[in-house]
Formats: sequence, structure tokens, C-alpha cells
Amino acid sequence: MIPFNYLGFIFKHFGKRIYPECARSYLEGCIEKLNKDSAVLDLGGGTGVLTEIAYGFNPSPQYIVSDPSIGMLKHSPNFSQKVLSKAENLPFKDESFDCVMIGEALHHFKNIDKSLNEIHRVLKHNGTLFIFDFDPKVFKGKMIYLFEKMLGEPVNFFQPSELSEILQEKGFVINFHKKEYKYVLLGTKIIENNN
Ligand SMILES: C[S@@+](CC[C@H](N)C(=O)[O-])C[C@H]1O[C@@H](n2cnc3c(N)ncnc32)[C@H](O)[C@@H]1O
Repeated sequence: MIPFNYLGFIFKHFGKRIYPECARSYLEGCIEKLNKDSAVLDLGGGTGVLTEIAYGFNPSPQYIVSDPSIGMLKHSPNFSQKVLSKAENLPFKDESFDCVMIGEALHHFKNIDKSLNEIHRVLKHNGTLFIFDFDPKVFKGKMIYLFEKMLGEPVNFFQPSELSEILQEKGFVINFHKKEYKYVLLGTKIIENNN
């Protein structure tokens, strides 16, 4: 397992570098329309790297960083609410969030089906899902996959087309954008999930 609990300082100071300009501008598109009555969940948010980027685009919404590692969470920004929890069992009411962001974290979730059902549940109707992750079929993505597998991580990596299909079945409309081994997947919750 990757000892995230001890890596907070590293992610806090270097974590932003993984997000290319194009990923940031897709995130801006999700965040800019929100207001002070909106809520944004940074899931597997760690030290709140994505939350800091999003806040730079729009400081109005309420930001919640959720992560199972207290050593990561303690570095998240003070303007955010910190919640110790796993994606598979979220301590939030149905339809709580206007946007759920997941930055290089989905592949660490142990149970993807359960996590995606939870994400669908806590998102509002027409709410937006922003996922940033790595394509395991592209060389650098495969290297990350092999490295994390060696460390005993769940390595739930998907090609963006594959993840799109799964999410469409759960009631999302999906678009994805690829840049080499990195991709951004944008989803809108349109219908109820019957799972
Ligand atoms: C590579 S870090 C990414 C952190 C942050 N999103 C960023 O962009 O820097 C992956 C995060 O996923 C979290 N994580 C691992 N398993 C999880 C789970 N089941 N549910 C939610 N988060 C999880 C880890 O604690 C870690 O903080």
C-alpha cells in the first residue's frame, strides 16, 4: 500500500504539477457557474490540491475535502471542510453536491461499483462529475499502473472509453478529453441509478 498518511507534505507541495493546463480549464468550466449556495466535493481529495485549483477559479461554493487518510487531510486548506471517509461509504445525504471532483484517486478506490453508486447518490440532478486519471494502455499510464500494483494498490485504472460506458450505465452523460496518458472525464447526472 502507498503510505498516504505520511505523504501529505509531498502532495501539498508538489501535487499540483500533475494537472496540465487543459485539465485545469475543464475544471474551471465545471466550477465557474457555481455560487455561494453550491457545494463541491473533492473525493479522495488528499491535501485538497484540486480544491485549491478550483477555489482559484471560484471561491463562492462550499468546498468539502473527503479522504480516508488523516495525514493527507490535515494539509487541506482551511477554507474547506475536511471529512474523513472512503468513497465506498460516503457520510453525506442524497443529492448534496453540485460537483464531485476526483483527481488521480479513482484508481485507489477498492470497490469501484460501490464508489460510483455513492457518487451518483450524493450528486444533485444535473450535477457535474470531474474525473482526472491515467490511461493504463498508454506507456506512462502503464508504468504508473505497474508501479502501484507492485506497491499493493487496488490499481483500478480504466481507459476513458471504458469508464465512460460504466458511468453511462449508471445514469451519466459523459464527455472525455485525453492528453497523452492523462485524461479528464466530465459527467452530468441525468437519471436515477437503479442499483
Ligand atoms: C494520489 S492521491 C490524490 C490526492 C489528491 N486528489 C490530489 O490530486 O493530490 C490518492 C488519494 O486517494 C485516497 N484514497 C485511497 N483509497 C480511497 C478510498 N477508498 N476512498 C477515498 N479516497 C481514497 C488516498 O488516501 C489519497 O489521498
